Amino acid sequence: MTDTCIGIIGGSGLYQIDGLEEATWQSVDSPWGDASDEILTGRLDGVRMAFLPRHGRGHVQSPSSINYRANIDSMKRLGVTDIFSVSACGSFREEMAPGDFVIVDQFIDRTFAREKSFFGAGCVGHVSVAHPTCPRLGDAAEAAARAAGITTHRGGTYLAMEGPQFSTLAESRLYREVWGCDVIGMTNMPEAKLAREAEICYASVAMITDYDSWHPDHGEVDVNDIIRTLFGNADKARDMVARLPSLLGATRDACPHGCDRALEYAILTQPAE
Ligand code: ADE
Repeated sequence: MTDTCIGIIGGSGLYQIDGLEEATWQSVDSPWGDASDEILTGRLDGVRMAFLPRHGRGHVQSPSSINYRANIDSMKRLGVTDIFSVSACGSFREEMAPGDFVIVDQFIDRTFAREKSFFGAGCVGHVSVAHPTCPRLGDAAEAAARAAGITTHRGGTYLAMEGPQFSTLAESRLYREVWGCDVIGMTNMPEAKLAREAEICYASVAMITDYDSWHPDHGEVDVNDIIRTLFGNADKARDMVARLPSLLGATRDACPHGCDRALEYAILTQPAE
């Protein structure tokens, strides 16, 4: 048994956690550099919580400038065991409409300008990300979102793009029609890969804000529309987060899916004598 510590990485539209006791903004020293911001720690329903605004307070980090390694490492140093990533996404499916939430379970990583691993020269490790999200956390996210009255879809493939521009129409069609993706965003990779390397369970909640550019009845993606949808959903997103601690509890067993033991058979480099 270990203490649960729930990490929330909040994207646009989720800038705080309501009702947090002993709330303190903490800066964390990481050898990987500066995280996006200080991390808000505290307790909710007796469970330790750590909240990181992914783009920094004031939305100052772009998807490509975020130091993902520092973000995940800082969470690890605070003892975070379970990360829920919440982010705005476009939809490739008619039925996944703006305002709905999707509990993502797969990714296609098309990002190319980010540091994606804690491993490298000196220590070589290869973790499996065949199943990049933790079903236990997916269950909790689904239950919390439904209880908060949000139309919720369980399962979906997330196309992670570099940005910051949105996709061209041809890309949007490729991802939807040929690659079978369900949602698109700019930040969940390499977050999910790094969480696995850090042996932290990870779930991703996509808050749908638009239909990207493929939909014949909707125009191009527009930041104003995204912000309007996000603000319309902010209360629900905070309600969902507030339900997570009681669903997960203050202590936890080893992850039944092995996310917290991902390095057991991953490292190739011989240990120093
Ligand atoms: N975030 C919100 N909507 C998006 C879209 N259509 N593409 C990439 N990221 C997004």
